[in-house]
Amino acid sequence: MISEDPAGAALDAALDDARARYADRRPRSAEQARAAAEVLPAGSTRSVLDFAPFPFRVARADGAELIDVDGHRYLDLLGDYTAGLLGHNPPEVADAVRAVLDRGWSLGAVADGEHRLAELLTDRFPSMDQMRFTNSGTEANLMAINLARHATGRNRVLIFDGAYHGGLLYFGAAGAALQAPFDYVRARYNDLDSVAEALAEHGHDVACLLVEPMMGAGGCLPGRPDFLAGMRRLCAEHGVILIFDEVMTSRMSTGGAQQRLGVVPDMTTLGKYLGGGMTFGAFGGSSELMGAFDPARGGQLTHGGTFNNNSMTMTAGVAAVERILTAEALDRLFAEGEELRERIGPILAPAGLSATGWGSLIGLHAVPGPVEGPADLADADSRRIELLFHELLEREVYMATRGFIALSLAVTPADLDAVVEALSDAVESLLGRGVLAG
Ligand SMILES: Cc1ncc(COP(=O)(O)O)c(C=O)c1O
Repeated sequence: MISEDPAGAALDAALDDARARYADRRPRSAEQARAAAEVLPAGSTRSVLDFAPFPFRVARADGAELIDVDGHRYLDLLGDYTAGLLGHNPPEVADAVRAVLDRGWSLGAVADGEHRLAELLTDRFPSMDQMRFTNSGTEANLMAINLARHATGRNRVLIFDGAYHGGLLYFGAAGAALQAPFDYVRARYNDLDSVAEALAEHGHDVACLLVEPMMGAGGCLPGRPDFLAGMRRLCAEHGVILIFDEVMTSRMSTGGAQQRLGVVPDMTTLGKYLGGGMTFGAFGGSSELMGAFDPARGGQLTHGGTFNNNSMTMTAGVAAVERILTAEALDRLFAEGEELRERIGPILAPAGLSATGWGSLIGLHAVPGPVEGPADLADADSRRIELLFHELLEREVYMATRGFIALSLAVTPADLDAVVEALSDAVESLLGRGVLAG
C-alpha cells in the first residue's frame, strides 16, 4: 500500500522492509504457512494469530521461551493472549495430565476433578456460590447472557463499544458480521453517564450488563474504580444482572479483579489459564441464579457440552490452582507488570507512543495518550505498533502484533530488564531512521 503523505510513505517502506527481513530469515515457517493455507483459510484456525507476511511456526516451547521451526528463539511476552499465565510446560500440570493418561479420559461420566475445581474457584471468587464449566470464554459469556435473560424474563444485553467477549461477542467495527444475535444496547466504556442514559431509556428490558473490569483485547484500558462501582449501583437500581467477564482479568488476584476492586458482580465468567492451559471456560453466580440448572430445585435449563468437564482440563485446572496460582505468585506477577509498565512509558513517549494496562497485562498504543476508552484510539496508526513488533522480534522478544503483552509466571526479572533494553534500542533505532517521529 502506498500512502500519499510522506510520513505514511516512510512507515510503509519501513514495514515492507521489516516484513521482507522477517520472511528471509524464516524459510521453513514460510513453506509451512503456504501449505497450511491450502486447507485452512489464512493457514490457521485462530484469526488473532495471523500477521503479515505469515506467522512463524513454533517447534518447541519451554518456560518463557518459544523456538520456531527455523531455530529462532523468542522471549514469550505474549503468554498465549493470557491463557499462558503458567508459562510453558509447568511440571505440576504435566504430571497431572500424565495421571489422566494412565487413568482414562473421555469418560461419559463424572470424575473427581470437576467437583474439586469448582470448589477451588467458588472459594476464590466472591460472586460465585456455584458455577458450571464450558469449553471456552466465548461459550461462558453466551451461557451467562442466556441465564440472565431467563432469570429476569428480559431480552436485551447492555455492552460497550469496542468490547471483546469472544469470537461471537466482538463489538468493534470488524465484529458485526459474526455477533451472536442478541438485542444489544450500547454504552461507552469509562463513561458512567452513557450507562445511566442507556438504563434510563431501556432498563426495563435489559437483562444484563456484560463488562470487563479492564478492556483487554480493546487495548488494556482499565475501568476507573468509580465507573465500575457506579455500574454496580445502577444495575442494582434497575434490576439488571451485572456480569463481570474476568476471562482476562481474573489474574489480578486469587479472587480476580473483583477482589482487588471490592466490586462484586452478580455473575462472573472465566477462561484462559484457569484450566491449566487446556481448553477452558466457566460461568457462575449466586446459588439462586445457578439453580436454574438444577431440576431438584425446579430449574428448567439444561446445559449441554460434551467436553464441559473434560478430564484434561479439570485435572490440569486443579493442579494449576492448588499448586501454582497462589496469592503470592499472582501478587508478584501483578507487581512485576505494574513496574514494567512504569518503565516502558518514558521509553515510548519520545516516539508519540504510550502504554496502558493493569498488573501483568499491558497495551502499547500508537497515540501519545492519555487513553481511557476505545474512542481515544480512533487516530492510532496500527503500522507504528506493527513496526515496533518487528523491531522487538528482531531482538528476540515476542509480543502481539497489536502491541499486547501478557506476562507469565515464567518470565524472570532479568527477562524484564532485557525487555526494557530491547524496547529502548528498538525505539531509538526507529527514531534514528525517522520512521517513528512523535
Ligand atoms: C475478555 C474476554 N472474554 C472472552 C474471551 C473469549 O474466550 P475464548 O477465546 O476462550 O472463547 C476472551 C478471549 O480472548 C477475552 O479476552
